[in-house]
Amino acid sequence: MIRASKDSCQHVDVVFIHPDGNREKVKDSYDKSLMDFAVDHGVKGIEAQCGGACICTTCMCHFSSSTFAGLEPASVDELEMLSFVPNRRATSRLACQIKVTVAMQGIEVYVDHT
Ligand code: FES
Repeated sequence: MIRASKDSCQHVDVVFIHPDGNREKVKDSYDKSLMDFAVDHGVKGIEAQCGGACICTTCMCHFSSSTFAGLEPASVDELEMLSFVPNRRATSRLACQIKVTVAMQGIEVYVDHT
């Protein structure tokens, strides 16, 4: 009998795309936040100064319109924090507020280095 590896079932790939077009693929457990994926693997552009408390906006990232539409909606608190960021886009989110699910396998995340 062939069984799928439990380890491989608990991990997903997230692709961080930098302003220069460089693509950085990170594989990790899907129960973490998108911010944790970035911070735990040293991805530049996601500083996360507040550690995920939704009060610093240094984890802001962007998505394609189609990917953005598939994410769980932002909370009122997240939307309020994003409203203070001058360079936010219509498809911007705070990475600390997005829990990575298995359905996000291969998700592409655009990061800024500002
Ligand atoms: Fe501070 Fe996300 S880590 S708002």
